[in-house]
Amino acid sequence: MKRKKIAVVGGAGQIGGIVAMIAAQRELGDVVLVDIPQKTNLTKAKALDITHMLPTENSDVELSGSGDFSVLAGSDVIVVTAGVPRKPGMSRLDLMDINIKIIRDVAAHIKECAPNSFVILTTNPLDAMVYAFHKLSGLTKHKVVGMAGALDSARFKSFLAAEAGVSTEDVACLVMGGHGPTMVPLTRTATAGGVPIEAILSKDRIKAVVEKTRDAGTELVRLYETGSAYFSTAAACIEMVESFLKDKKRVIPSAAMCEGEYGVHGLFLGVPVVIGAGGVERVLEFPLTAEEQLMFNKTIAAVQEAVAESGV
Ligand code: APR
Repeated sequence: MKRKKIAVVGGAGQIGGIVAMIAAQRELGDVVLVDIPQKTNLTKAKALDITHMLPTENSDVELSGSGDFSVLAGSDVIVVTAGVPRKPGMSRLDLMDINIKIIRDVAAHIKECAPNSFVILTTNPLDAMVYAFHKLSGLTKHKVVGMAGALDSARFKSFLAAEAGVSTEDVACLVMGGHGPTMVPLTRTATAGGVPIEAILSKDRIKAVVEKTRDAGTELVRLYETGSAYFSTAAACIEMVESFLKDKKRVIPSAAMCEGEYGVHGLFLGVPVVIGAGGVERVLEFPLTAEEQLMFNKTIAAVQEAVAESGV
């Protein structure tokens, strides 16, 4: 059986390297790390270093590094982690000017070399970058998605599990909306082993968890001092890569194109979607309460503003 091909654009960077590592450990497919030509050696170094992990991981896949984007040809899935990360004191929106140029460049390469691939982006400000990539690359809405909800939900899950004193394995929860301070962690739908979280934790404790979830990315920027989260970001990307490659049809909150769902028209925004062999196969819609819809409307406005600012 021919192995799947996974490409990581921004592969010399922090998130890119870890995406490649986990994909190889899990034997999801062959991995190509691509970055700007000046980083060619770094992509090759990471590819070789991870290759030397594989005997101890019992994994048989091939890794390679390159500064030439033509190697993207034939990719089943491309994870785009190209872009500058935040430094302390910066908001994700502060990255707009520099990262939109990078996304323009990456979109042109993918349009030319791998227009049939499924593309998952992490570049911030996330929702605006995914919108721009979709428009500039010409890929269908089913083949373009942003990774944010998977990470925000993992953070929410981690904090809820710790607060409730239960296994993270049993917590199910959903964070919708834009990747930023207006994100909407839905406490009403959170459960631990099927038991509503609202029956286990007080309103105040849930409120504190929601605040921690919203602030988690910024807290990591403060602690890292020179960049932003990468282990958890990479792991969240892998959930999406795996669901696509194995046609698992997992329900993962992701920045997907909404055309009327939840009152969003023509924007990429965090909503629960089914990811399978067709890419983003469906957006799952359910009624929000008036209060939730109000929060969601704020996040729509914030993303609309970011998209306008991107100038695409
Ligand atoms: N084409 C390909 N790669 C590029 C380009 C480009 N035009 N421009 C920059 N890169 C590469 C950089 O050379 C670097 O290797 O993107 C990589 C980014 O890696 P890091 O600086 O380590 O950043 P990382 O922490 O991985 O975050 C990447 O994801 O979560 C977001 O906010 C974060 O926008 C940031 C992105």
